[in-house]
Amino acid sequence: MLDERKALLLIGSPKKKNSTSESVGGYLLEELRKKGYICDRLHVLTALKDDIEELLSKVNDTDLLIISFPLYVDCLPSSLIRALELIGINRREKNITKKQSLIAISNNGFPESFHNYTALDICKNFASKSGFNWLGGFAMGSAGAISGRPIEQLGGMTRNKVAALNMTVEAIVNNNSIPSEAFELMSSNLMPTLLYTFAGNMGWKTQAKQYGSAKELYAKPYQ
Ligand SMILES: Cc1cc2nc3c(=O)[nH]c(=O)nc-3n(C[C@H](O)[C@H](O)[C@H](O)COP(=O)(O)O)c2cc1C
Repeated sequence: MLDERKALLLIGSPKKKNSTSESVGGYLLEELRKKGYICDRLHVLTALKDDIEELLSKVNDTDLLIISFPLYVDCLPSSLIRALELIGINRREKNITKKQSLIAISNNGFPESFHNYTALDICKNFASKSGFNWLGGFAMGSAGAISGRPIEQLGGMTRNKVAALNMTVEAIVNNNSIPSEAFELMSSNLMPTLLYTFAGNMGWKTQAKQYGSAKELYAKPYQ
């Protein structure tokens, strides 16, 4: 029996809707809910603008904190950095002693998942400085292929991501460490890199055409 354990998802994407951060973090949260967790989610940028006190008190009250965010310039989005700073200050002031754990999920647009490593190290450092037990950080590349869609509905392409998160849930519920296989599956390629970059280029060109700036794509302003 889980004795009403709580999980809180912080969505670090500035996008209010259809972010990959929410689709991946949301899947994990929903699976925990099915196992009896009391689950809640907050959009970080909205909380910063509207009610930071609510965010701070929910973070201090949860058993498991999940931070899911997009990689911005090899780092966390600035709004998430600000929120983590405020959380850290608040927890030191309040001297929180509750046993709490933290998982981070970083997704990025380039094909390779290793770009997320620095951002995940920042989250690990935050966990250790702010009194969270670090359960691990997931790195997911090629996230443009998901584009905010529900990962459980994307068939074979996201099969490994779903398996990684299912393994994670089993480990958490049974108080075990998350197996290294889960982190590896999350980092595995969603599709061949050549196909991903080809599709990315096509999408980029289509968008440029829509905005009447197809020629600007080839501009060389510093030449
Ligand atoms: C301002 C900005 C900076 C970004 N920087 C990086 C980066 O350094 N490396 C990378 O691989 N992707 C980068 N991306 C792409 C995002 O990480 C990617 O689109 C991600 O999947 C968006 O996730 P979301 O839907 O949760 O917001 C950047 C996107 C934006 C808008």
